[in-house]
Amino acid sequence: MTARPMEGKKGIVLGVANRHSIAWAITEALLEAGAEVALTYEGERVADRVRKLTEDTPIRRLYPCDVSRDDDLRALFDQVEKDMGTVDFIVHSVAYAPREALAVPFHQIPREGFQMALDISAYSLIALCRFGSRLFQPGTSILTLTYHGSQQVMPGYGVMGVAKAALEAAVRYLAVDLGGQGVRVNGLSAGPINTLAARGVPGFTDSLRLYRERSPLQKNTEPEELGQAALFLLSPMSRGITGEILYVDGGFHITGA
Ligand SMILES: NC(=O)c1ccc[n+]([C@@H]2O[C@H](COP(=O)([O-])OP(=O)(O)OC[C@H]3O[C@@H](n4cnc5c(N)ncnc54)[C@H](O)[C@@H]3O)[C@@H](O)[C@H]2O)c1
Repeated sequence: MTARPMEGKKGIVLGVANRHSIAWAITEALLEAGAEVALTYEGERVADRVRKLTEDTPIRRLYPCDVSRDDDLRALFDQVEKDMGTVDFIVHSVAYAPREALAVPFHQIPREGFQMALDISAYSLIALCRFGSRLFQPGTSILTLTYHGSQQVMPGYGVMGVAKAALEAAVRYLAVDLGGQGVRVNGLSAGPINTLAARGVPGFTDSLRLYRERSPLQKNTEPEELGQAALFLLSPMSRGITGEILYVDGGFHITGA
């Protein structure tokens, strides 16, 4: 393995809100590995923080993009095409569910909240491929972030579990759809990490403790572990892998009672 496996590769990371974001840990790993990284940010609410974060880095390209808006996605890829031509990787590290869809019993989830959670957390991966595919080339690797609540019921995860199940199915369908062009699509299933999005999930601190107590490695997942695993899935080291969900959770998901 080369020390800088992403040398000469360029791409986009979506989902940095602050230095605790999983997307930021992945960005740091990509930069370390020699990649040229452009970031997107959701909107003006996080723009200053993201700009500050990149000040001491080689990152020069920051694009606004609300993934729930087709116009934003169209504008993003028009600009990326002008600035970068093609992309070797895209990291989709974006999720959202409104409070009124998370903090209610599962059978009381309102339609609008369900639609918004599924749109932003799952459809957006398809939308990225829909608007961005003309910039893909053989070897391009797409990566998304998911959670085990897609497979088994996890306390408080509710509507997000359904959204992640849809996201993981989309990974498989996209992998088949784009595989003929040599484009790969994979997901990383992360153990709980203390981020802005995670703190919105009721009972999040309990799951941190549960993972420390119950996972084979008896510790919580560290952002750097996700950065390294992402690097593997984004680089040619994983060129034979697509449609896969790779768990980085200290082994929690293999345990039973
Ligand atoms: N933190 C965890 O415990 C954990 C575990 C497994 C999976 N994940 C997944 O990791 C990903 C990143 O989350 P995180 O934990 O780093 O939290 P985070 O809050 O740092 O990142 C979530 C990002 O989604 C962005 N976002 C939300 N709505 C958007 C929209 N409409 N358009 C564009 N961007 C939007 C936010 O701006 C933010 O940057 C998510 O998919 C999350 O579900 C997190």
